[in-house]
Amino acid sequence: MSAPKKLFIKTYGCQMNVYDSERMAEALGGEGYVETKSPDDADMILLNTCHIREKAAEKVYSELGRFKGLKAEKPDLKIGVAGCVAQAEGQEIMRRQPLVDLVVGPQSYHRLPEMEAKAREGEKVLDTDFPEEDKFEKLKNRPKAKRGPTAFLTVQEGCDKFCAFCVVPYTRGAEVSRPADRILREAQDLVERGVREITLLGQNVNAYHGAGANGDMTLAQLIWELDKVDGLERIRFTTSHPNDMQDDLIEAHGTCAKLMPYLHLPVQAGSDKILKRMNRAHTAESYLRLIERIRAARPDILISGDFIVGFPEETEADFQATLDLVEEVKYGTAYSFKYSTRPGTPAAERPQVDPKEADDRLQRLQALLTKQQREVQDSMVGRDVTVLFEKAGRFPGQMVGKSDYLHAVHVADCDRAIGNLARVRILSSGANSLAGALID
Ligand code: SAH
Ligand code: SF4
Ligand code: F3S
Repeated sequence: MSAPKKLFIKTYGCQMNVYDSERMAEALGGEGYVETKSPDDADMILLNTCHIREKAAEKVYSELGRFKGLKAEKPDLKIGVAGCVAQAEGQEIMRRQPLVDLVVGPQSYHRLPEMEAKAREGEKVLDTDFPEEDKFEKLKNRPKAKRGPTAFLTVQEGCDKFCAFCVVPYTRGAEVSRPADRILREAQDLVERGVREITLLGQNVNAYHGAGANGDMTLAQLIWELDKVDGLERIRFTTSHPNDMQDDLIEAHGTCAKLMPYLHLPVQAGSDKILKRMNRAHTAESYLRLIERIRAARPDILISGDFIVGFPEETEADFQATLDLVEEVKYGTAYSFKYSTRPGTPAAERPQVDPKEADDRLQRLQALLTKQQREVQDSMVGRDVTVLFEKAGRFPGQMVGKSDYLHAVHVADCDRAIGNLARVRILSSGANSLAGALID
Protein backbone atom coordinates (compact mmCIF):
# COMPACT_ATOMS: atom_id res chain seq x y z
CA MET A 1 0.00 0.00 0.00
CA SER A 2 1.27 3.47 -0.79
CA ALA A 3 1.77 5.98 2.00
CA PRO A 4 -1.33 8.10 2.67
CA LYS A 5 -1.43 11.49 1.04
CA LYS A 6 -1.55 14.43 3.42
CA LEU A 7 -4.22 17.11 3.51
CA PHE A 8 -3.85 20.50 5.19
CA ILE A 9 -7.08 22.47 5.64
CA LYS A 10 -7.18 26.02 6.97
CA THR A 11 -10.60 27.29 7.96
CA TYR A 12 -11.75 30.92 8.07
CA GLY A 13 -15.13 32.46 8.85
CA CYS A 14 -18.14 31.02 10.61
CA GLN A 15 -18.89 27.70 12.32
CA MET A 16 -20.51 26.45 9.15
CA ASN A 17 -17.11 26.53 7.52
CA VAL A 18 -15.71 24.51 10.45
CA TYR A 19 -18.40 21.90 9.85
CA ASP A 20 -17.78 21.92 6.09
CA SER A 21 -14.02 21.48 6.58
CA GLU A 22 -14.68 18.32 8.61
CA ARG A 23 -16.91 17.01 5.82
CA MET A 24 -14.29 17.79 3.17
CA ALA A 25 -11.61 16.01 5.20
CA GLU A 26 -13.91 12.98 5.45
CA ALA A 27 -14.66 13.02 1.72
CA LEU A 28 -10.96 13.18 0.84
CA GLY A 29 -10.27 10.58 3.56
CA GLY A 30 -12.08 8.19 1.23
CA GLU A 31 -9.45 9.03 -1.40
CA GLY A 32 -6.58 8.08 0.89
CA TYR A 33 -5.87 11.45 2.51
CA VAL A 34 -5.04 11.91 6.17
CA GLU A 35 -5.02 15.35 7.79
CA THR A 36 -1.81 17.09 8.73
CA LYS A 37 -1.33 20.13 10.97
CA SER A 38 1.27 21.77 8.78
CA PRO A 39 1.20 22.90 5.15
CA ASP A 40 4.89 21.94 4.82
CA ASP A 41 4.33 18.19 4.45
CA ALA A 42 0.97 18.41 2.68
CA ASP A 43 0.14 16.92 -0.74
CA MET A 44 -2.96 19.07 -0.86
CA ILE A 45 -3.72 22.42 0.77
CA LEU A 46 -7.32 23.61 1.04
CA LEU A 47 -8.25 27.09 2.22
CA ASN A 48 -11.87 27.20 3.36
CA THR A 49 -12.54 30.89 3.02
CA CYS A 50 -14.87 33.67 4.21
CA HIS A 51 -16.15 36.61 2.17
CA ILE A 52 -18.13 38.45 4.83
CA ARG A 53 -15.79 41.46 5.15
CA GLU A 54 -13.15 42.81 2.79
CA LYS A 55 -10.28 41.95 5.14
CA ALA A 56 -11.43 38.33 5.39
CA ALA A 57 -11.39 37.96 1.60
CA GLU A 58 -8.00 39.68 1.17
CA LYS A 59 -6.41 37.35 3.73
CA VAL A 60 -6.91 34.48 1.30
CA TYR A 61 -4.74 36.04 -1.39
CA SER A 62 -1.91 36.86 1.01
CA GLU A 63 -2.09 33.33 2.43
CA LEU A 64 -1.96 31.84 -1.08
CA GLY A 65 1.09 33.94 -1.90
CA ARG A 66 2.93 32.31 0.98
CA PHE A 67 2.62 28.86 -0.62
CA LYS A 68 4.68 29.87 -3.66
CA GLY A 69 7.95 28.49 -2.24
CA LEU A 70 6.29 25.23 -1.18
CA LYS A 71 4.81 24.67 -4.60
CA ALA A 72 8.18 25.37 -6.27
CA GLU A 73 9.80 22.72 -4.08
CA LYS A 74 6.97 20.26 -4.53
CA PRO A 75 5.35 20.49 -7.98
CA ASP A 76 2.86 17.71 -7.08
CA LEU A 77 1.37 19.83 -4.31
CA LYS A 78 -2.24 20.71 -5.14
CA ILE A 79 -3.76 23.92 -3.83
CA GLY A 80 -7.51 24.44 -3.54
CA VAL A 81 -9.77 27.29 -2.49
CA ALA A 82 -13.16 26.42 -0.99
CA GLY A 83 -15.84 28.41 0.85
CA CYS A 84 -17.42 31.77 0.25
CA VAL A 85 -14.53 33.53 -1.54
CA ALA A 86 -14.47 30.57 -3.94
CA GLN A 87 -18.18 31.05 -4.56
CA ALA A 88 -17.98 34.83 -4.95
CA GLU A 89 -14.78 35.17 -6.96
CA GLY A 90 -14.52 31.82 -8.80
CA GLN A 91 -12.39 32.22 -11.94
CA GLU A 92 -10.93 35.47 -10.64
CA ILE A 93 -8.99 33.50 -7.99
CA MET A 94 -7.19 31.42 -10.61
CA ARG A 95 -6.43 34.56 -12.62
CA ARG A 96 -5.04 36.40 -9.62
CA GLN A 97 -3.12 33.43 -8.25
CA PRO A 98 -2.05 30.90 -10.90
CA LEU A 99 -0.78 28.42 -8.33
CA VAL A 100 -4.38 27.53 -7.44
CA ASP A 101 -5.40 24.16 -8.96
CA LEU A 102 -8.93 23.86 -7.71
CA VAL A 103 -11.81 26.17 -6.76
CA VAL A 104 -14.88 24.67 -5.09
CA GLY A 105 -17.99 26.51 -3.87
CA PRO A 106 -19.79 25.56 -0.64
CA GLN A 107 -22.56 23.66 -2.43
CA SER A 108 -20.24 21.39 -4.42
CA TYR A 109 -18.12 19.71 -1.74
CA HIS A 110 -19.48 16.25 -2.54
CA ARG A 111 -17.76 16.58 -5.94
CA LEU A 112 -14.35 17.12 -4.34
CA PRO A 113 -13.05 13.54 -4.87
CA GLU A 114 -13.60 13.79 -8.65
CA MET A 115 -12.16 17.28 -8.70
CA GLU A 116 -9.08 16.13 -6.80
CA ALA A 117 -8.52 13.33 -9.33
CA LYS A 118 -8.71 15.81 -12.20
CA ALA A 119 -6.32 18.20 -10.46
CA ARG A 120 -3.87 15.30 -10.00
CA GLU A 121 -3.91 14.90 -13.77
CA GLY A 122 -2.86 18.49 -14.16
CA GLU A 123 -6.23 20.03 -14.94
CA LYS A 124 -7.44 23.29 -13.42
CA VAL A 125 -10.88 22.58 -11.95
CA LEU A 126 -13.64 24.91 -10.87
CA ASP A 127 -17.11 24.09 -9.52
CA THR A 128 -19.31 26.80 -8.07
CA ASP A 129 -22.71 25.37 -9.04
CA PHE A 130 -25.72 25.23 -6.78
CA PRO A 131 -26.78 21.64 -7.50
CA GLU A 132 -30.15 20.31 -6.37
CA GLU A 133 -28.88 17.29 -4.46
CA ASP A 134 -28.10 17.29 -0.73
CA LYS A 135 -24.33 17.53 -0.58
CA PHE A 136 -24.24 16.23 2.99
CA GLU A 137 -26.07 13.02 2.03
CA LYS A 138 -23.40 12.38 -0.58
CA LEU A 139 -20.58 13.20 1.81
CA LYS A 140 -20.86 10.00 3.75
CA ASN A 141 -17.39 8.57 3.84
CA ARG A 142 -17.26 9.01 7.55
CA PRO A 143 -14.98 6.69 9.46
CA LYS A 144 -16.45 5.76 12.86
CA ALA A 145 -13.61 7.53 14.66
CA LYS A 146 -14.04 8.77 18.20
CA ARG A 147 -14.65 12.48 18.59
CA GLY A 148 -14.43 15.21 21.22
CA PRO A 149 -17.48 16.02 23.38
CA THR A 150 -18.80 18.90 21.25
CA ALA A 151 -19.80 19.00 17.60
CA PHE A 152 -21.47 21.21 15.03
CA LEU A 153 -24.29 19.89 12.88
CA THR A 154 -25.55 21.89 9.93
CA VAL A 155 -29.35 21.75 9.68
CA GLN A 156 -30.05 24.67 7.39
CA GLU A 157 -28.02 26.60 4.86
CA GLY A 158 -28.34 29.73 2.82
CA CYS A 159 -30.38 32.84 3.45
CA ASP A 160 -33.35 34.62 1.84
CA LYS A 161 -33.20 37.71 4.04
CA PHE A 162 -30.90 39.88 1.90
CA CYS A 163 -29.76 42.32 4.55
CA ALA A 164 -28.40 45.23 2.51
CA PHE A 165 -24.78 44.76 3.70
CA CYS A 166 -24.44 40.98 3.49
CA VAL A 167 -22.92 38.58 0.95
CA VAL A 168 -24.30 35.37 2.46
CA PRO A 169 -27.42 35.11 0.26
CA TYR A 170 -25.08 35.25 -2.75
CA THR A 171 -22.30 32.96 -1.50
CA ARG A 172 -24.47 30.33 0.19
CA GLY A 173 -27.55 30.66 -1.96
CA ALA A 174 -31.22 30.33 -1.10
CA GLU A 175 -32.35 28.94 2.21
CA VAL A 176 -32.55 25.13 2.33
CA SER A 177 -33.39 22.97 5.36
CA ARG A 178 -32.18 19.37 5.66
CA PRO A 179 -34.81 16.70 6.38
CA ALA A 180 -35.14 15.87 10.08
CA ASP A 181 -34.46 12.12 9.78
CA ARG A 182 -30.99 12.76 8.34
CA ILE A 183 -30.18 15.21 11.09
CA LEU A 184 -31.34 12.75 13.75
CA ARG A 185 -29.28 9.94 12.22
CA GLU A 186 -26.24 12.18 12.16
CA ALA A 187 -26.82 13.24 15.77
CA GLN A 188 -27.15 9.59 16.84
CA ASP A 189 -23.89 8.78 15.05
CA LEU A 190 -22.11 11.71 16.73
CA VAL A 191 -23.31 10.57 20.17
CA GLU A 192 -22.07 7.03 19.50
CA ARG A 193 -18.67 8.56 18.78
CA GLY A 194 -18.50 10.42 22.09
CA VAL A 195 -20.28 13.71 21.42
CA ARG A 196 -22.32 15.12 24.35
CA GLU A 197 -23.18 18.57 23.03
CA ILE A 198 -24.43 19.45 19.56
CA THR A 199 -24.68 22.96 18.15
CA LEU A 200 -27.19 23.09 15.31
CA LEU A 201 -25.97 25.40 12.58
CA GLY A 202 -27.65 27.52 9.97
CA GLN A 203 -27.18 31.03 8.59
CA ASN A 204 -30.76 31.45 9.68
CA VAL A 205 -31.13 28.46 11.90
CA ASN A 206 -34.43 29.43 13.52
CA ALA A 207 -36.05 29.61 10.08
CA TYR A 208 -35.49 25.83 9.93
CA HIS A 209 -38.42 24.08 8.23
CA GLY A 210 -37.06 20.67 7.25
CA ALA A 211 -39.27 17.75 6.26
CA GLY A 212 -40.35 15.51 9.14
CA ALA A 213 -42.58 12.43 9.36
CA ASN A 214 -45.73 14.59 9.56
CA GLY A 215 -44.85 17.52 7.32
CA ASP A 216 -42.38 20.33 7.82
CA MET A 217 -40.91 20.75 11.27
CA THR A 218 -39.93 23.89 13.17
CA LEU A 219 -36.56 24.23 14.87
CA ALA A 220 -38.26 23.73 18.25
CA GLN A 221 -39.82 20.46 17.04
CA LEU A 222 -36.43 19.30 15.81
CA ILE A 223 -34.90 20.19 19.20
CA TRP A 224 -37.58 18.13 20.97
CA GLU A 225 -36.71 15.16 18.74
CA LEU A 226 -33.03 15.59 19.59
CA ASP A 227 -33.99 15.83 23.25
CA LYS A 228 -34.97 12.13 23.03
CA VAL A 229 -31.48 11.04 21.91
CA ASP A 230 -29.94 9.16 24.85
CA GLY A 231 -26.43 10.28 25.67
CA LEU A 232 -26.89 13.70 24.09
CA GLU A 233 -26.76 16.09 27.03
CA ARG A 234 -26.75 19.57 25.53
CA ILE A 235 -28.29 21.30 22.53
CA ARG A 236 -27.38 24.74 21.19
CA PHE A 237 -28.19 26.51 17.93
CA THR A 238 -26.81 29.46 15.96
CA THR A 239 -27.38 31.93 14.27
CA SER A 240 -30.93 33.20 14.65
CA HIS A 241 -32.79 36.08 13.08
CA PRO A 242 -35.15 38.05 15.38
CA ASN A 243 -38.05 37.71 12.93
CA ASP A 244 -37.91 33.90 12.97
CA MET A 245 -37.98 33.56 16.75
CA GLN A 246 -41.23 31.61 16.94
CA ASP A 247 -43.30 31.01 20.07
CA ASP A 248 -42.51 27.29 20.32
CA LEU A 249 -38.78 28.04 20.25
CA ILE A 250 -39.08 30.68 22.97
CA GLU A 251 -41.13 28.24 25.03
CA ALA A 252 -38.55 25.46 24.52
CA HIS A 253 -35.98 27.66 26.23
CA GLY A 254 -38.09 27.43 29.36
CA THR A 255 -39.07 23.77 29.15
CA CYS A 256 -36.39 21.75 27.36
CA ALA A 257 -33.69 20.86 29.88
CA LYS A 258 -31.14 19.96 27.22
CA LEU A 259 -31.51 23.31 25.46
CA MET A 260 -28.81 25.57 26.90
CA PRO A 261 -29.56 29.06 28.29
CA TYR A 262 -27.65 30.93 25.62
CA LEU A 263 -29.02 32.71 22.58
CA HIS A 264 -27.12 34.48 19.83
CA LEU A 265 -29.62 36.97 18.43
CA PRO A 266 -27.98 39.62 16.22
CA VAL A 267 -29.68 43.02 16.05
CA GLN A 268 -26.99 44.90 14.03
CA ALA A 269 -28.10 48.40 15.02
CA GLY A 270 -30.41 50.32 17.36
CA SER A 271 -31.72 53.03 15.02
CA ASP A 272 -34.94 52.25 13.17
CA LYS A 273 -33.82 54.37 10.24
CA ILE A 274 -30.64 52.30 9.88
CA LEU A 275 -32.44 48.99 10.51
CA LYS A 276 -34.82 49.88 7.71
CA ARG A 277 -31.98 50.69 5.34
CA MET A 278 -30.30 47.47 6.35
CA ASN A 279 -33.48 45.66 5.29
CA ARG A 280 -33.63 43.94 8.67
CA ALA A 281 -37.46 43.98 8.83
CA HIS A 282 -37.51 44.53 12.60
CA THR A 283 -37.32 47.64 14.78
CA ALA A 284 -35.30 48.30 17.92
CA GLU A 285 -38.53 48.20 19.88
CA SER A 286 -39.71 44.86 18.44
CA TYR A 287 -36.28 43.39 19.22
CA LEU A 288 -36.42 44.63 22.82
CA ARG A 289 -39.92 43.20 23.30
CA LEU A 290 -38.70 39.89 21.88
CA ILE A 291 -35.82 39.80 24.37
CA GLU A 292 -38.35 40.45 27.13
CA ARG A 293 -40.43 37.45 26.07
CA ILE A 294 -37.37 35.22 25.85
CA ARG A 295 -36.27 36.28 29.33
CA ALA A 296 -39.76 35.65 30.67
CA ALA A 297 -39.45 32.05 29.42
CA ARG A 298 -35.87 31.63 30.70
CA PRO A 299 -34.83 34.42 33.08
CA ASP A 300 -31.15 33.44 33.32
CA ILE A 301 -30.58 33.15 29.55
CA LEU A 302 -27.37 34.77 28.29
CA ILE A 303 -27.96 36.95 25.24
CA SER A 304 -25.31 37.42 22.59
CA GLY A 305 -25.40 39.70 19.56
CA ASP A 306 -23.77 41.07 16.42
CA PHE A 307 -23.42 44.77 15.58
CA ILE A 308 -22.34 46.80 12.61
CA VAL A 309 -21.21 50.41 13.07
CA GLY A 310 -20.67 52.93 10.32
CA PHE A 311 -23.37 51.55 8.03
CA PRO A 312 -23.97 54.05 5.17
CA GLU A 313 -25.63 57.25 6.37
CA GLU A 314 -25.36 56.34 10.07
CA THR A 315 -25.30 59.60 12.05
CA GLU A 316 -24.04 60.13 15.58
CA ALA A 317 -27.67 60.09 16.75
CA ASP A 318 -28.25 56.74 15.00
CA PHE A 319 -25.16 55.35 16.66
CA GLN A 320 -26.36 56.64 20.02
CA ALA A 321 -29.52 54.59 19.51
CA THR A 322 -27.33 51.48 19.18
CA LEU A 323 -25.62 52.31 22.50
CA ASP A 324 -29.05 52.83 24.10
CA LEU A 325 -30.26 49.45 22.88
CA VAL A 326 -27.12 47.76 24.20
CA GLU A 327 -27.63 49.43 27.59
CA GLU A 328 -31.14 48.07 27.70
CA VAL A 329 -30.37 44.48 26.65
CA LYS A 330 -27.17 43.86 28.62
CA TYR A 331 -25.29 41.39 26.45
CA GLY A 332 -23.30 38.47 27.83
CA THR A 333 -21.14 38.35 24.71
CA ALA A 334 -21.17 40.27 21.45
CA TYR A 335 -19.39 40.65 18.16
CA SER A 336 -19.11 44.10 16.66
CA PHE A 337 -17.76 45.10 13.27
CA LYS A 338 -17.03 48.18 11.28
CA TYR A 339 -19.18 48.17 8.17
CA SER A 340 -17.25 46.73 5.23
CA THR A 341 -18.39 47.56 1.70
CA ARG A 342 -19.18 44.37 -0.21
CA PRO A 343 -19.37 44.76 -3.98
CA GLY A 344 -22.72 43.68 -5.36
CA THR A 345 -24.70 44.34 -2.17
CA PRO A 346 -27.24 47.23 -2.12
CA ALA A 347 -25.50 49.14 0.70
CA ALA A 348 -22.31 49.40 -1.35
CA GLU A 349 -24.05 52.03 -3.49
CA ARG A 350 -25.05 54.27 -0.55
CA PRO A 351 -23.09 57.27 0.81
CA GLN A 352 -20.38 55.87 3.08
CA VAL A 353 -19.52 57.04 6.60
CA ASP A 354 -16.10 58.62 7.20
CA PRO A 355 -13.83 55.68 8.21
CA LYS A 356 -12.30 57.62 11.12
CA GLU A 357 -15.76 58.31 12.50
CA ALA A 358 -16.65 54.62 12.10
CA ASP A 359 -13.45 53.59 13.93
CA ASP A 360 -14.30 55.90 16.77
CA ARG A 361 -17.83 54.50 17.04
CA LEU A 362 -16.56 50.95 16.99
CA GLN A 363 -14.23 51.72 19.88
CA ARG A 364 -17.01 53.27 21.92
CA LEU A 365 -19.38 50.38 21.24
CA GLN A 366 -16.73 47.79 22.05
CA ALA A 367 -15.89 49.53 25.33
CA LEU A 368 -19.53 49.27 26.37
CA LEU A 369 -19.92 45.66 25.21
CA THR A 370 -16.70 44.60 26.96
CA LYS A 371 -17.89 46.21 30.17
CA GLN A 372 -21.21 44.34 29.95
CA GLN A 373 -19.50 41.06 29.11
CA ARG A 374 -17.28 41.53 32.16
CA GLU A 375 -20.24 42.26 34.43
CA VAL A 376 -22.18 39.24 33.22
CA GLN A 377 -19.14 36.99 33.63
CA ASP A 378 -18.35 38.39 37.10
CA SER A 379 -21.97 37.85 38.16
CA MET A 380 -21.37 34.10 37.84
CA VAL A 381 -19.11 34.13 40.93
CA GLY A 382 -20.83 32.29 43.78
CA ARG A 383 -23.24 30.50 41.44
CA ASP A 384 -23.41 26.79 40.67
CA VAL A 385 -23.23 25.82 37.01
CA THR A 386 -22.90 22.61 35.02
CA VAL A 387 -19.62 22.18 33.16
CA LEU A 388 -18.93 19.88 30.23
CA PHE A 389 -15.21 19.07 30.34
CA GLU A 390 -13.46 19.48 26.99
CA LYS A 391 -9.74 19.25 27.74
CA ALA A 392 -7.01 19.09 30.36
CA GLY A 393 -5.85 22.46 31.71
CA ARG A 394 -2.32 23.83 31.81
CA PHE A 395 -1.69 22.69 35.38
CA PRO A 396 -1.63 19.10 36.67
CA GLY A 397 -5.07 17.96 37.78
CA GLN A 398 -6.81 20.93 36.14
CA MET A 399 -9.64 20.47 33.63
CA VAL A 400 -11.30 23.03 31.37
CA GLY A 401 -14.84 23.01 30.06
CA LYS A 402 -17.81 25.18 29.23
CA SER A 403 -20.69 26.17 31.47
CA ASP A 404 -24.30 26.09 30.34
CA TYR A 405 -23.84 29.80 29.53
CA LEU A 406 -20.82 29.01 27.33
CA HIS A 407 -18.27 30.56 29.70
CA ALA A 408 -14.91 28.75 29.81
CA VAL A 409 -14.46 27.29 33.32
CA HIS A 410 -11.19 26.02 34.87
CA VAL A 411 -11.48 23.46 37.65
CA ALA A 412 -8.46 22.50 39.80
CA ASP A 413 -8.09 19.06 41.47
CA CYS A 414 -10.58 17.68 39.01
CA ASP A 415 -10.91 13.91 38.68
CA ARG A 416 -13.46 14.05 35.83
CA ALA A 417 -12.66 12.87 32.33
CA ILE A 418 -13.15 14.72 29.06
CA GLY A 419 -16.81 14.40 28.08
CA ASN A 420 -18.07 14.29 31.69
CA LEU A 421 -20.54 16.82 33.08
CA ALA A 422 -20.26 18.04 36.65
CA ARG A 423 -21.77 20.64 38.94
CA VAL A 424 -19.24 23.34 39.71
CA ARG A 425 -19.30 26.29 42.10
CA ILE A 426 -17.79 29.40 40.51
CA LEU A 427 -15.12 30.92 42.77
CA SER A 428 -13.55 33.66 40.68
CA SER A 429 -13.71 35.47 37.35
CA GLY A 430 -10.52 36.00 35.33
CA ALA A 431 -9.65 37.77 32.10
CA ASN A 432 -11.43 35.39 29.74
CA SER A 433 -12.62 32.55 31.93
CA LEU A 434 -14.06 31.52 35.27
CA ALA A 435 -12.48 29.31 37.92
CA GLY A 436 -14.51 26.92 40.05
CA ALA A 437 -14.50 23.81 42.20
CA LEU A 438 -16.42 20.55 41.94
CA ILE A 439 -19.42 20.61 44.26
CA ASP A 440 -19.48 16.96 45.30
N1 SAH B 1 -26.49 34.65 9.48
C1 SAH B 1 -26.04 35.33 10.57
C2 SAH B 1 -24.61 35.80 10.47
C3 SAH B 1 -24.20 36.53 9.28
S1 SAH B 1 -22.52 37.01 9.18
C4 SAH B 1 -26.99 36.43 10.88
O1 SAH B 1 -27.86 36.75 10.14
O2 SAH B 1 -26.87 36.99 11.94
C5 SAH B 1 -22.08 37.41 10.81
C6 SAH B 1 -22.09 38.88 11.12
O3 SAH B 1 -21.18 39.57 10.31
C7 SAH B 1 -23.41 39.58 10.90
O4 SAH B 1 -24.32 39.35 11.91
C8 SAH B 1 -22.98 41.02 10.80
O5 SAH B 1 -22.94 41.62 12.06
C9 SAH B 1 -21.56 40.92 10.25
N2 SAH B 1 -21.49 41.39 8.85
C10 SAH B 1 -22.11 40.86 7.77
N3 SAH B 1 -21.83 41.59 6.67
C11 SAH B 1 -21.02 42.59 7.05
C12 SAH B 1 -20.41 43.69 6.38
N4 SAH B 1 -20.59 43.91 5.09
N5 SAH B 1 -19.63 44.54 7.11
C13 SAH B 1 -19.44 44.36 8.44
N6 SAH B 1 -20.01 43.34 9.12
C14 SAH B 1 -20.80 42.47 8.45
FE1 SF4 C 1 -26.69 37.97 6.09
FE2 SF4 C 1 -28.91 39.06 6.97
FE3 SF4 C 1 -28.95 36.58 5.99
FE4 SF4 C 1 -27.77 37.05 8.31
S1 SF4 C 1 -29.98 37.32 7.87
S2 SF4 C 1 -26.97 35.83 6.64
S3 SF4 C 1 -26.90 39.10 8.03
S4 SF4 C 1 -28.53 38.44 4.84
FE1 F3S D 1 -18.03 33.90 5.93
FE2 F3S D 1 -19.39 32.44 4.25
FE3 F3S D 1 -19.60 32.02 6.84
S1 F3S D 1 -18.96 34.60 4.04
S2 F3S D 1 -19.30 34.04 7.69
S3 F3S D 1 -17.81 31.73 5.63
S4 F3S D 1 -21.24 31.91 5.34
